[in-house]
Amino acid sequence: MPIPKAELHLHIEGTLEPEMAFALAHRNNLTLPYTDVEDLRRAYSFTDLQSFLDLYYALMDVLRTEADFTDLANAYLTRAATQGVRHAEIFFDPQAHTSRGISIDTVINGLTAALHDSERTHNISTTLILCFLRDRPAQEALDTLHQARPHLEHIHAVGLDSAEIGNPPEKFTEVFTTARDMGLHRVAHAGEEGPASYIWQALNLLGAQRIDHGIRCLDDPHLVQHLATTQTPLTVCPLSNVRLKAVPSLDQHPLPALLDAGLLITINSDDPSYFGGYVHDNYQAVHTHLGLTQHQLRQLARNSFTASFLTPERKAQLIAQVDAHPW
Ligand code: HPA
Ligand code: ZN
Repeated sequence: MPIPKAELHLHIEGTLEPEMAFALAHRNNLTLPYTDVEDLRRAYSFTDLQSFLDLYYALMDVLRTEADFTDLANAYLTRAATQGVRHAEIFFDPQAHTSRGISIDTVINGLTAALHDSERTHNISTTLILCFLRDRPAQEALDTLHQARPHLEHIHAVGLDSAEIGNPPEKFTEVFTTARDMGLHRVAHAGEEGPASYIWQALNLLGAQRIDHGIRCLDDPHLVQHLATTQTPLTVCPLSNVRLKAVPSLDQHPLPALLDAGLLITINSDDPSYFGGYVHDNYQAVHTHLGLTQHQLRQLARNSFTASFLTPERKAQLIAQVDAHPW
């Protein structure tokens, strides 16, 4: 069994496997513009973040009903359990659904129907992170936050995702202040394709407690020093970075440099259906291609719980499971 770990950077819509896309299309009387699963898989060849996002948003069209969202989340949990996941803080993109006429209630009710029981059925505790689409107006993000109000018991944090370059965090300062005032934690994608300055903005203007991706921090030594001193976690996604060409290849991934700098690094899967692997596959990939040792992988697993929004007691329990894990 893979080492126990938390998954902190996982877009639930990015777990839609081609087989399920076809099954849901059939159930909802839709026709996908692909002849079969293999044909769709051939489209999973990306040149950058935007080329992925185009397919990611287009395929979401098959998600229509509460049952669709429940099935999606259940399929993820089933796979996550086989990857050693014990806790998952799961992103979802409400605006990608409300903009298609699917209500936020349908999305959240569908997801929580799967998540509410996951500790018992899969031994995985879960929370939801509501992400704002940064390439849409800030006012729409604020409206989305208000639409989510009746569901706040299921939502621990807000996040920021979608097309990064040209959409700096500063655009969402007011939204994140409002979220903080509502008692929500804050995370943000920054420094995936965008510059190190976006990471500073996420920290200083949005009050981000974790940075999603963050690999471009290495362009700014002062920022690296700051992240190391504050032990602000980075949720790094190696297979994603390679597939979206943020880094040229796995053996050239900056993970070793990030670790050498003393940063609190976690390993995550991002959009596993699209990027060729779930979270433990990412652990294995950095072992194989970057030579990370079992000792380092164990530390990364500990970090995943340290960087989570769990209580100190639950973190300690889960870290003890990591320490007890036999290889
Ligand atoms: N980056 C930005 N937005 C996203 C991603 C990502 O890796 N995955 C899903 N939405
Ligand atoms: Zn992401």
